[in-house]
Amino acid sequence: MNDRLIPEQLAQLRERALAALAAVDSTDALERWRVEYLGRRAAVNTFLRELGQLPPADRRAAGQAANALKAELEAAYAARAQALKDAELAALLERERLDVTLPGRPPALGGLHPTTLVVERILEIFRDLGFRVAEGPEVELDYYNFEALNIPPEHPARDMWDTFYVRPPDIVLRTHTSPNQVRVMERTRPPVRVVVPGRCYRYEAQDASHEWMFYQVEGLAVDRGLTMADLKGVLTTFAREMFWPDVQCRFRCDYFPFVEPGLDMSITCHLCRGAGCRVCKGTGWIELLGAGMVHPFVLRRAGYDPDEVTGFAFGMGPERIAMVKYGIEDIRLFYGNDLRFLEQFR
Ligand code: PHE
Repeated sequence: MNDRLIPEQLAQLRERALAALAAVDSTDALERWRVEYLGRRAAVNTFLRELGQLPPADRRAAGQAANALKAELEAAYAARAQALKDAELAALLERERLDVTLPGRPPALGGLHPTTLVVERILEIFRDLGFRVAEGPEVELDYYNFEALNIPPEHPARDMWDTFYVRPPDIVLRTHTSPNQVRVMERTRPPVRVVVPGRCYRYEAQDASHEWMFYQVEGLAVDRGLTMADLKGVLTTFAREMFWPDVQCRFRCDYFPFVEPGLDMSITCHLCRGAGCRVCKGTGWIELLGAGMVHPFVLRRAGYDPDEVTGFAFGMGPERIAMVKYGIEDIRLFYGNDLRFLEQFR
C-alpha cells in the first residue's frame, strides 16, 4: 500500500460509491450497493483490516480517513434508504388518493310502491273499524275461487273472470280475493270481521284500465243480525277516511254470484267533484268496489247456518283507489317498473 496514494484511492472510492448510490432506484439495488460498499468484503473494510501493513506513523491518519469515509457512506446509505421509502409511500398515497373534501355520494333511498301505500292505508282504516287482516294463496283451487262461491263449472258467470289455469281443471291463479271469504269462515266461528289483501290474476288484454295482475282487498263481516245498513255504514266510513270527509257514496244493484243482493259502490269524482270529466267519463261518479250480502249458499258451504247469521262482503282494487287518489290515468304504470313514475311516491 502506497501511503501517498491513500487519500487519492479513498477519494476515488468515495466518488464511485456515491455515484452508484445516486443511481440506486429500488430497495433491491440498494441492498446490492450496501453489500458492495459497506459489506464485509467492501473496499473500505478491507482497507481498515489491512491498516497494519502501513508504516506505524501513517496508520492513524489513514485509519481516520477510512473511518470517516465509512461513516459518510453509512450516512448516505441511510439517507437513500429513507428517500426510497418516502418515494414508495408517496406513490402509494397517490394511488390510493382520497379527497376527503369532496361532497359525499348520497345513498339512494327507496320508497314504498303506490299500491303498498294504498293497501296499508286501507288495512289501517279497517283495523280501526275492528277488522283483522288475513291472507290466502295466490295459486288457488277452483273450488275456492269458483265453486264454493256459488259459481259451478259451466256456469255462464265464469265469464266474469278470465282465468289463468295452472293445472286444468282444478288449480287456477285466483281471479279475485273472494276465495278467502270461504277460507276464513272454514276456520273461524262467527262473528267474523276480516280484510284480506293480495294479488289477483286475470287473462286480460292490457289497456289503460286492465292489467293481468293487480291487487284486491277483500272484506267480510258475519254476525247475528248484520244488514245492508251495516254494509253501507262501514263502506261510507271507509270512503270518508280514504278520500275526503264530504265524499258522496252511491250504491247500485250489481250481480255477483256469491252475494244477494249484490251491489257496486261509486264515489263522487275527485277531479270534477261531480260535474263530469274525462276521468269519470262525464258521469261525475267513479266505481270503486263490488259488495253485497253474503249469499246463503256461501255461508252454508263454509259451515255457517244462514238462519243464524248474516254477513256482508266487499272487494276493492287498490290500484283503482290509487288512481283516484293520485290522479294516475293508466294502470299499466303500476307494474311497468319505470322509476320516473315510482319515485314520485317517495
Ligand atoms: N270478487 C269480486 C270481483 O273481483 C268483487 C266482490 C267481492 C263483489 C265481494 C262482491 C263481494 O269482481
